[in-house]
Amino acid sequence: MHAEPLQHALKAACIRVEAALDRALPASDAAPGRLHEAMRYAALGPGKRVRPFLVHAAGALAGAPAETLDAPACALELIHAYSLVHDDLPAMDDDDLRRGRPTCHRAYDEATAILVGDALQTLAFQTLSTAPGLSAETRLGMIETLTRASGSLGMAGGQALDLAAVGQGLDLVGLEAMHRMKTGALIEASVRMGALAGGADEALHSRLKDYARAIGLAFQVRDDVLDVTGDSAVIGKTRGKDAAANKPTYVSLLGLDAAQSLALRLRDEAEAALEGLAGAETLRGLARYIVERQA
Ligand code: IPE
Ligand code: IPE
Ligand code: MG
Ligand code: MG
Ligand code: MG
Repeated sequence: MHAEPLQHALKAACIRVEAALDRALPASDAAPGRLHEAMRYAALGPGKRVRPFLVHAAGALAGAPAETLDAPACALELIHAYSLVHDDLPAMDDDDLRRGRPTCHRAYDEATAILVGDALQTLAFQTLSTAPGLSAETRLGMIETLTRASGSLGMAGGQALDLAAVGQGLDLVGLEAMHRMKTGALIEASVRMGALAGGADEALHSRLKDYARAIGLAFQVRDDVLDVTGDSAVIGKTRGKDAAANKPTYVSLLGLDAAQSLALRLRDEAEAALEGLAGAETLRGLARYIVERQA
């Protein structure tokens, strides 16, 4: 897929998941109004919606009707939004800017931001457990996938490793393990949940897993590169924040050029995993987008 159609597909996925998020989130005037307003602020802010896009792209490839993918796509974005709200807290990365706007704890307050994370997380699982058009077995499989990917052996565990490594330095093996957990796990879960909705067979699951592992790592490698080279106005967060905080990143360990070369190698690995697979053009396009993106 060329850059232009992919941009259109990304835009369409944004519109679709934003409508699903809007339906899933309680109204701002429902009590407690301040919490609901802050949840909407965090979840509906201008994100790229890469994870929902992956649910739809993998689901379409596996033959799932698009209507059955809205709930899992929405659940992924809710977990991701919660992870960003907590990631930005003073006790974690202490960031003031997210998606080009004040972070949730800056726009509201720290206690509210903690509760926003709690409530977005549980809303994700409520959304999955009531997902229309999917069997109870499929919904349970998705819940298992997303709980594993978000917990201490997935995203939350990766965040713990990230914090523990500040100022300590990590070797490449440790850095890769940390990145695969903190960012890769939710990206892998997005692809797997789309495939589950389509009832993919083992062979397709296995190909998609290889693809997702490669783009999951590539995504965080590119995030590390953008932390150093990105334009703050475009990335929507303060440039150089992770570098200044002495965080272990691919750029601090390998240098800028080698980090970007690694991202390109991972893109090639992702494309190789899809070789010969009919209908995988959107996923191929996304692998290229991930390593070229400017935000
Ligand atoms: C940022 O994620 C944090 C990482 C896991 C690297 P995204 O780059 O997907 O952020 P949004 O959703 O587009 O704001
Ligand atoms: C965030 O990694 C990963 C999660 C939120 C799980 P970063 O801390 O590098 O993300 P940014 O750079 O703040 O978006
Ligand atoms: Mg962080
Ligand atoms: Mg951060
Ligand atoms: Mg970062």
